[in-house]
Amino acid sequence: MKIIESPAEMQRLADAARLRGDKIALVPTMGYLHEGHLSLMREGRRRASVLAVSLFVNPTQFGPNEDLAAYPRDMQRDCRLMESIPVDLLFAPQAQAMYPPGAQTWVEVTEVTQGMCGASRPGHFRGVTTVVAKLFNIVKPHIALFGAKDYQQLCAVRQMVRDLNFDVEIVPMPTVREHDGLAMSSRNAYLSPAEREKALSLSRALEAARACYVQGERNPYALAQRAREELGRDNAVSVEYVEVREATTLKEIERIDGPAVIAVAARVGRTRLIDNIVLEPSSN
Ligand code: PAJ
Repeated sequence: MKIIESPAEMQRLADAARLRGDKIALVPTMGYLHEGHLSLMREGRRRASVLAVSLFVNPTQFGPNEDLAAYPRDMQRDCRLMESIPVDLLFAPQAQAMYPPGAQTWVEVTEVTQGMCGASRPGHFRGVTTVVAKLFNIVKPHIALFGAKDYQQLCAVRQMVRDLNFDVEIVPMPTVREHDGLAMSSRNAYLSPAEREKALSLSRALEAARACYVQGERNPYALAQRAREELGRDNAVSVEYVEVREATTLKEIERIDGPAVIAVAARVGRTRLIDNIVLEPSSN
């Protein structure tokens, strides 16, 4: 695995790969890798001849009171895991290389980023779409893989690619879960054993809502209410939002008559966790 820090060097390698006729897959990450990240890499490996991963804890997507400084990091372990895939190119820039002084351009998706995580994390998605646009221009991938775990992020990236004519195929990948249902996340590392147990209420709440959906409930508020009930069983879990939205546009809906997503964000202790499931018309 070749490790590249410089954006210009990465661009040269990408150009050379494209000239050779290689197909480049990119998996953007912030590191502290887990099985969710690795599933994206394995699929990228399968679909392309060059597998590139970016590892960059992007400062512009963190709010002033968020966990940028505390975000877990373990480059050595990450490198071992990536070698096992194997990853060909690791793009791991320093923040100054990505954001040299004087930068003044942002990429902002306006509607899909309203509400849900966009409401509680102002500026977050603008930071995400800006860095992903930069990564696309630096790594020049033919395809890029994103997890459905971060559902609103996936929708925002798809919208950006469509609106700005990026020549990149976005490959969505299912959420990878621990054996008991907890969605894998680098932030799970913050949880104490007791909190780890309580964190299960997110996936349980979503499953409870799904069960209602399967029984025929099509009122989004009733489904959200069912999930809230389940989350409310534990007063150590503080709910930020539970929302049911149209699955692609993330528009609010009065009644479910096509694919919908039910998404939740909650704090367990000081750790903010998110999870979601897609309700497909065929799943009842
Ligand atoms: P990060 O949280 O490291 O996630 C990198 C990629 O892994 C994202 O596409 C995310 O959706 C996916 N992922 C995380 N947990 C997953 C799980 N349990 N199952 C499946 N996929 C999972 O998301 C980011 O980094 C950043 O916002 C980034 C896109 C890199 C931009 O900075």
